[in-house]
Amino acid sequence: AVRSRFESWRRSMVNTDTSLAVIVLAAGQGTRMRSATPKVLHRIGGRSLVGHVLATAQALQPARVVTVVRHERDLVAAEIAEQAPDAIVVDQDDVPGTGRAVEVALEALADFDGDVVVLSGDVPLLQSDTLAALVAAHRERAAGVTVMSALLDDATGYGRVIRDASGDVLRIVEQKDASDAERGVGEINAGVYVFRIDALRVHLAEIGTDNAQGEKYLTDVIALARAAQRPVGAAVAPDTAAALGVNDRVQLSEAARALNARTVRRWQLDGVTVLDPATTWIDVDVTLAPDVTLLPGTQVLRATTVGEGATIGPDTSLVGCEVGAGATVTRTDATFAIIGERATVGPFAYLRPGAELGRSGKIGTFVEVKNSTIGSGSKVPHLSYIGDTEIGDRVNLGAGAITANYDDLAKHRTVIGDDVHSGSHNVFVAPVRIGDGAKTGAGAVIRKDVPSGALALSVAPQRNVEGWVEKNRAGTAAAEAAARSRSTQKADDGA
Ligand code: UD1
Ligand code: CA
Repeated sequence: AVRSRFESWRRSMVNTDTSLAVIVLAAGQGTRMRSATPKVLHRIGGRSLVGHVLATAQALQPARVVTVVRHERDLVAAEIAEQAPDAIVVDQDDVPGTGRAVEVALEALADFDGDVVVLSGDVPLLQSDTLAALVAAHRERAAGVTVMSALLDDATGYGRVIRDASGDVLRIVEQKDASDAERGVGEINAGVYVFRIDALRVHLAEIGTDNAQGEKYLTDVIALARAAQRPVGAAVAPDTAAALGVNDRVQLSEAARALNARTVRRWQLDGVTVLDPATTWIDVDVTLAPDVTLLPGTQVLRATTVGEGATIGPDTSLVGCEVGAGATVTRTDATFAIIGERATVGPFAYLRPGAELGRSGKIGTFVEVKNSTIGSGSKVPHLSYIGDTEIGDRVNLGAGAITANYDDLAKHRTVIGDDVHSGSHNVFVAPVRIGDGAKTGAGAVIRKDVPSGALALSVAPQRNVEGWVEKNRAGTAAAEAAARSRSTQKADDGA
């Protein structure tokens, strides 16, 4: 383990871009979200917005990642620490604006020389190869600033890239400060930049707050750098999704859909059948083997893994599950469950945390399982609740099996051995053990342990009280039917 940690450390050292730093802006409140949760902690594809941005930043292997926080700083800093433990967290003061955010981040780069990538914590779909290409273009031109732009059908809300007649970038103007003519420009600022660090140091100090929002705009660096004769460039993003900024919940859903489309497509090209990408949702940390089939209405979330040839759906949610090769999971809701190879689950099953089904096992219709293991080849096919239970191999529980695990004081375990067959509609009152090969009668309430090989019966033998209905319910339809049946019977007997 030490050896492999050393190897991966050495690899990372070798590949580190020592003249590159990344600043991730995550201090804003995100007012337009109208949310108690800070904007950059909202999630798409199973990961926070800032988590996506940090993953992109790390892929460049920069010498340093600096993040800027302020609104709900502890919550945001905790998420940053989880997603990027090596990132430096800097606090923005009460001077607002993206320019001020970068200015305070520079304090953590006092000894750094090189290029600085600035990313917005609310632009989650930017991919690392797009960003790497931006850095390469910036370095090739020896530019002072290179900004990523995009051509959007609806540019509303974004800063616009203003160019002169020969196409050179003049400045960026915010929507709120723009003239009507400027608002007509379709090329927007994606909020993704590469700067020479000295350009940032010099020009951020020159920026004021004399604008519609009373903020220090990072975007003002562009005009200042140009005025100082530094080469300034704008590179149009290869796809518009890369530039999608999340400011409200409409954009959040748009970003979620675009990310999901990308994830689905990647798995399709890797050999996964997804019949309906629009209704199939796959988190970014999910792993799918070749020849998995995902049917419409299926969500595969939270680091779920699915083995080769398994079929999931329709209308199924898997959260943090492990599904074996060749398994079938139909119309099921499962969270932190393990489903063995070639097992079948559903339709209409509910697997709660700790449910574990062995290979070729079956959990059938209207069955709820929690914190229980069901051995290989074992079946719980219909209308059952199985909780805090261990079931051996090749067991068959009849329809309507209930493990009564809770006596309103504590939870208790039910242990069922191998090759047990239970009758329909049994209640297993825990704590209770059923030995290997035992059988139980229909309707049994099992309160005591059943030895291996025994037949357990708890329902009293049936006793028929002849003539009860005609005697006690005279004149009812039932009594008349009974009388008719009796006379037919007599006639038949007489014949
Ligand atoms: C910003 C750009 C705009 C661009 C758009 C792209 C500026 C002035 N405008 O506008 O040109 O088209 O992004 O998505 O930069 N933040 C801080 N501290 C602050 C303010 C913001 O860290 O004081 C962070 C936010 O958390 C967010 C990012 O910076 O992650 C962008 O801030 P936001 O207020 O969303 O800027 P936009 O109005 O979208
Ligand atoms: Ca924004």
